[in-house]
Amino acid sequence: MLPISDFLARADAVEHEAAAVFAAAASADAVLDARNRFLGRTHSARAALKDLLGEIAPADKPVAGRRYNELQQKLEALLAETTERVGSSTASGPSFDPSLPPRTAWHGAVHPVSQVIDEIAEIFRELGFTIALGPEVEAPWYNFTALNFPADHPAMDLHDTLYLDADEVLLRTHTSPVQVRTLQQYAPPVRVLAPGNVFRRDFFDATHAPAFMQLEGLVVDEGISFADLKATLTHFVRRFYGPTVPVRFGPSFFPFTEPSFEMDLRSPNLGRLSNRWLEIMGCGLVDPKVLELCGLDPKEWSGLAFGLGLERIAMLVHGIDDIRHFYNNDTRFLRQFA
Ligand code: PHE
Repeated sequence: MLPISDFLARADAVEHEAAAVFAAAASADAVLDARNRFLGRTHSARAALKDLLGEIAPADKPVAGRRYNELQQKLEALLAETTERVGSSTASGPSFDPSLPPRTAWHGAVHPVSQVIDEIAEIFRELGFTIALGPEVEAPWYNFTALNFPADHPAMDLHDTLYLDADEVLLRTHTSPVQVRTLQQYAPPVRVLAPGNVFRRDFFDATHAPAFMQLEGLVVDEGISFADLKATLTHFVRRFYGPTVPVRFGPSFFPFTEPSFEMDLRSPNLGRLSNRWLEIMGCGLVDPKVLELCGLDPKEWSGLAFGLGLERIAMLVHGIDDIRHFYNNDTRFLRQFA
């Protein structure tokens, strides 16, 4: 039997200790520890006192029971008070605001012009074309001379550009120099596509940009004729714009193709530009002079070439009316194509 005085002394000691421990608790973890230590269902100070109740003489049981209940209420009040104090100081602290919305993962996306490159490359890949790249800072010989531009020819006015290092190098005005670099590097037959940035002295307005992207195509093989040019480009346009889109070839001029053409198409679903003839690219048969300048015998080899403006294609596909959207990095614009 446990004397009632011992029981009451034990209860007082627990109450005293609990008051100090709860008062010192400064974090949610500390409150939880104190709760377990004093109020836990097993192995706590309260549980130990409850066990002691069984050792009290029956005559003293009502006194012990009342003291036990009173202590339990005190401990619960301490817990509630401490939880509130620690909880509210945590919520107002700077470290964690549980009411903030979660951070969502940020997904990048392929730029609409890059998407067009990918789609065109896929169509030409099926025809055996691979990708070729050339430098954006180019020697005038590649940009003009090897492409049969006569010195000071008016065709060069369209290609006025920025010369660097006392006219030794310039920003390329078209992707056609990649034709020359490809023929210098690989023996025919060749079939390449060359996408890339080009630079012109142009205003930056709804339909022009001083820096834009072109895609060049080149085939050099034996016996390439206008039939190959027409078949290749018509196949591309029908795969890209739809199987029933009418196309036509009109006369044009480029120093590096002979004959030269512009290719036009008409489509019923290009928004404001529907059902109008639209020029979509320049093309032609590679001028024998270019083959010669690249060290190939024009009696043995012949070729076709074409070049198109990539932003213009993306604008036609998506009904975009201002080329400047592509360069503003406005994610509200870009997200529409993601
Ligand atoms: N390089 C020409 C331009 O920039 C386009 C072109 C490429 C034309 C290939 C014919 C053949 O306008």
